[in-house]
Amino acid sequence: MAGLQAVFFHSVFILGIISVQSGPCIPQRFDQDSIVCVCNSTYCDTYANIDLEPNPANPIPYYNTYMTTRSGLRMEHKSGSFDLTKTGENVFTIKKATGQRIKGFGGAFTDAATLTMNSLSPQARSNLIDAYFSSKGIEYNIGRIPMGSCDFSTHVYSYDDTDGDFSLEHFSLAEEDLNHKIPAIKDAMAVSRRNISLFGSPWSSPYWMKTNLNMTGRGSIIGEPGGEYYKTWAKYFVKFIQAYKDNGVNIWGVTTQNEPTDGDIPGFNFQCLGWTPQTQRDFIAKDLGPALEANGFGNVKVMIFDDQRELLPYWTNVVLSDTEAAKYVSGVAVHWYIDLLVPPSFIDRAYEKFGSDYFFLNTEACEQDLINKNRSVLLGSWYRGEHYFKDIMQDLQHGISGWIDWNMALNMEGGPNWVNNFADSPIIVNADKDEFYKQPMYYAMGHYSKFVTPGSVVVSHDKNITTAKGVDAIFFRRDRDIMIGNIVNIDEQSYNITVVDPNTQPNYINIEIPAKSFVTLQWFTTS
Ligand SMILES: *[C@@H]1O[C@H](CO)[C@@H](O)[C@H](O)[C@H]1NC(C)=O
Ligand SMILES: *[C@@H]1O[C@H](CO)[C@@H](O)[C@H](O)[C@H]1NC(C)=O
Ligand SMILES: *[C@@H]1O[C@H](CO)[C@@H](O)[C@H](O)[C@H]1NC(C)=O
Ligand SMILES: *[C@@H]1O[C@H](CO)[C@@H](O)[C@H](O)[C@H]1NC(C)=O
Ligand SMILES: *[C@@H]1O[C@H](CO)[C@@H](O)[C@H](O)[C@H]1NC(C)=O
Ligand SMILES: *[C@@H]1O[C@H](CO)[C@@H](O)[C@H](O)[C@H]1NC(C)=O
Repeated sequence: MAGLQAVFFHSVFILGIISVQSGPCIPQRFDQDSIVCVCNSTYCDTYANIDLEPNPANPIPYYNTYMTTRSGLRMEHKSGSFDLTKTGENVFTIKKATGQRIKGFGGAFTDAATLTMNSLSPQARSNLIDAYFSSKGIEYNIGRIPMGSCDFSTHVYSYDDTDGDFSLEHFSLAEEDLNHKIPAIKDAMAVSRRNISLFGSPWSSPYWMKTNLNMTGRGSIIGEPGGEYYKTWAKYFVKFIQAYKDNGVNIWGVTTQNEPTDGDIPGFNFQCLGWTPQTQRDFIAKDLGPALEANGFGNVKVMIFDDQRELLPYWTNVVLSDTEAAKYVSGVAVHWYIDLLVPPSFIDRAYEKFGSDYFFLNTEACEQDLINKNRSVLLGSWYRGEHYFKDIMQDLQHGISGWIDWNMALNMEGGPNWVNNFADSPIIVNADKDEFYKQPMYYAMGHYSKFVTPGSVVVSHDKNITTAKGVDAIFFRRDRDIMIGNIVNIDEQSYNITVVDPNTQPNYINIEIPAKSFVTLQWFTTS
């Protein structure tokens, strides 16, 4: 054991010299069961880029842990050495890499999020961008961009509100794109060491393309796929991608429609556009796919669905069983809002059939108070962080390759939102004080986005849980033989657990998982 200890200290020394300095959370408690971390123009808690450095001649038998707890730890870093014996009575045993490759994690550059960022001083805003995108923060690598307005806008607009403009001569990006969304995206790209994949999603077409002549309320594109209105709607996607490109932002993908079933709900009170899987299939085959290809955007990833889990098997079947449509499609997007009611077997049914040819992404999630929307922000709610952490884990355990949150920042009310559909966000901005609050949800996202780097693969495991009923885990293999384990404990008590990696020597990690916690484990394995 003396030898192991020496190696352990040596490795800590290596970690010390490659690390960016971490700065602690400045905690503040509001009326919830956990804290927020307060950031302002001169200070924000940061998380060192602690990457393990391999030593092929001397594989290092130590591991890192990063812990976030309801009681106040935030990605607290510690190291420990592997043990020769197993002491935990709850055991996770690493098995083998699956074919499930991680695309990444992120949030949305909505009007609301980027207006809110701009309500801060330039220095505080820059700390917020760093918190999400730089190596001091949680390093998101995916961003969603609403194409035009949605409920999280201050007013209703499209990029072409000129009636009957089938050539889209009057197409132009909005003030929100030019002054808020694009500058935030560019600042994010500038501080990131990762490539950020950006994808657009429309809420509604211009009113004049819609059967009800209104961007809100039940309606669909006038006519049939292949017709003049559908062709114009496909051209609108091309114009959007081109306009962002002209402004220095390359679009990686698009979803065909945000929540296509909203547009079939009579009286739906914000921007929406109705589709069936059949009209979406035919639009992709006849209009969208050919328009993207003809305009040099054939490499833009088209994602279908972008709606709640319950219709996923049916919808993917209709669209992807059609070879004319499927040849233009790369992925399947799904939202989280009814995950507590609809089991992940709904993902399994779609993934088993199409998972080897298409990636699956969770493209939207947020918390809100559905009864009193203006009580949607709960500063410091541990439950909401836990809900994020567990939903991400469940999705990734069922074939989904990434998870994108909704608004990256909102004001104290959970807006702006022109229909008062207020929601919570991992970062809430208090413009009056020029500060912002990083909630438990932010750290829940970060345990995945920072450590589970793009390209990591999910590694299967066996578990033998005897007492720790509230503990669950998921494991990944990163580049350079780095293993990552994300563990959650939803119980009110702590447990000793053991992680067994048959490929390390010795192969037992014995750790105590605190009550109400998220824990990331990081170690080297060997092939
Ligand atoms: C920002 O927060 C830090 C840490 O709490 C504090 O020391 C500093 O005075 C604050 N800066 C401003 C401008 O309020
Ligand atoms: C699970 O762990 C318990 C307690 O350590 C042990 O008695 C049991 O044999 C284990 N089961 C399996 C399948 O390994
Ligand atoms: C970013 O993308 C470019 C172009 O595809 C690629 O060459 C580069 O390796 C990528 N960088 C990272 C960090 O993935
Ligand atoms: C769209 O519908 C809303 C809600 O019914 C209504 O208030 C608004 O005036 C309509 N807009 C147009 C352009 O007709
Ligand atoms: C909150 O919402 C309720 C119902 O929608 C409304 O009556 C009330 O005025 C709102 N309160 C505030 C402070 O906005
Ligand atoms: C975990 O193990 C340590 C060391 O054996 C012990 O001190 C601690 O009480 C154990 N914790 C739990 C929750 O069993």
